[in-house]
Amino acid sequence: MIYATGDTHGNFQRFRPEYFPEQAGMTRKDYMIICGDFGGVWDGSKKEQRTLDWLESLPFTTLFVSGNHENFDRLKKYPVEEWNGGRVQAIRPHVLHLTRGQIFELQGYTFFTMGGASSHDIDYGILDPKAPDFEEQYWTLRRMGVNFRVNHRSWWKEELPSETEYKEARYNLERVNHQVDYVISHCAPSSIEDIIGGGGYVHDHLTDFLEEVKQNTKFHYWLYGHYHDNKIINDRFVLLWEQIVQII
Ligand SMILES: [Fe+2]
Repeated sequence: MIYATGDTHGNFQRFRPEYFPEQAGMTRKDYMIICGDFGGVWDGSKKEQRTLDWLESLPFTTLFVSGNHENFDRLKKYPVEEWNGGRVQAIRPHVLHLTRGQIFELQGYTFFTMGGASSHDIDYGILDPKAPDFEEQYWTLRRMGVNFRVNHRSWWKEELPSETEYKEARYNLERVNHQVDYVISHCAPSSIEDIIGGGGYVHDHLTDFLEEVKQNTKFHYWLYGHYHDNKIINDRFVLLWEQIVQII
């Protein structure tokens, strides 16, 4: 069995047995895929460690791609290893980060993974904590109650893929003749984003790259999160938020 869900932002309540009773029939070889904004590697606190231990104690294996709300400084400290045809980082033995531009084979199906997204909740910009007027700026914005983020505390440039990650993605897609069973990402291809936001979202390198994948790759379903809604666009683009769907 393979299930998928949308952004968790560090809150895994939906996986409690009372809300997800299907886990009774699952093993470590069954998977729950989180389509980005996992948020379980954030502040390194004791509470966070306990939450990750609890996630590890569930009967299935949890997989996630990155979103934009991940602490990339902490995430990059986990070693990268090979797993089912692609590269992962083990946060716990059965909680794995599926890195960008990889193709995994799970239960006989292939999955192309490309995490990341642009943060949209930064209307008032990204503050540099090393700037001399940081404290003043920070509290002014806090008092105004507006959207802003702080570099390396709540925003990381790694929310968007690097050139190397795009290169690896293109190389791996070529290797499988641009044919996979599933695509897992956090944001959507530009044309799908236009449908979701009625043209209100600004395209970026990543949504344009995903658009290229949409055009040149054959796939059955594309699962993604980020837009805080559950709906299916154009029959194959499955937007997930708190819903859990069985895909295999
Ligand atoms: Fe997001």
